[in-house]
Amino acid sequence: ERPLIIAPSMLASDFARLGEEIRAVEQAGADWIHLDVMDGHFVPNITFGPDVIRAMRPHTKLPFDVHLMIAPVDPYLEAFAKAGADIITIHAEAGPHLHRSLQAIRQLGKKAGVVINPATPESVLEYVIDRVDLILLMTVNPGFGGQAFIPEVVDKVSRVRALIGHRPIDLEIDGGVTPETAPLVTAAGANALVAGSAVFKGGSPEAYTANIAAIRDA
Ligand code: DX5
Ligand code: ZN
Repeated sequence: ERPLIIAPSMLASDFARLGEEIRAVEQAGADWIHLDVMDGHFVPNITFGPDVIRAMRPHTKLPFDVHLMIAPVDPYLEAFAKAGADIITIHAEAGPHLHRSLQAIRQLGKKAGVVINPATPESVLEYVIDRVDLILLMTVNPGFGGQAFIPEVVDKVSRVRALIGHRPIDLEIDGGVTPETAPLVTAAGANALVAGSAVFKGGSPEAYTANIAAIRDA
């Protein structure tokens, strides 16, 4: 099976020291860097855009897993590609032309991801599944870190794993991932875990190492 990927969400890091925080989580055993882009419109919070991602890019060679919580998405895809995104993941709920947007991401030479909110049925994935490299299932309502894991999504993880079959698609989970909840979703078939507060709690490089190990060992 595919090896477990842990993707710390920089949303929970110290934004005044982003470069240092990225290097610390890389040292601590991170596989990808998860970057949460929020526009105050698709979700009720605002974070950062392509210029900040470009500034982070020289601090690591790890893949940048960019989670776009913005609408519209099409006008900004090229800017995120040029800023250094490796995977660009867009919400199925964010616009009427999901198929076109996913195609645009691949045309930019990046891996295309699709993400659905907790209340969105997985059937939306059926007609785009051969156009994606990653499927992300939200286990919180997007917008904020530190929220509680929504357990109803675990059944969805199993159903999406079955839908993926033998396709080379990563199945990622985002929201409320901790050493307690991680085994529920990996048992259901997830192979990539985003974790914000569970990685950055403690605030020191030593804590990050212990926190990532705790999730992996769980
Ligand atoms: C939420 C973001 C998440 C968030 C997860 O909208 O997409 O990536 O940072 O934070 P935790 O792990 O604290 O739930
Ligand atoms: Zn995210």
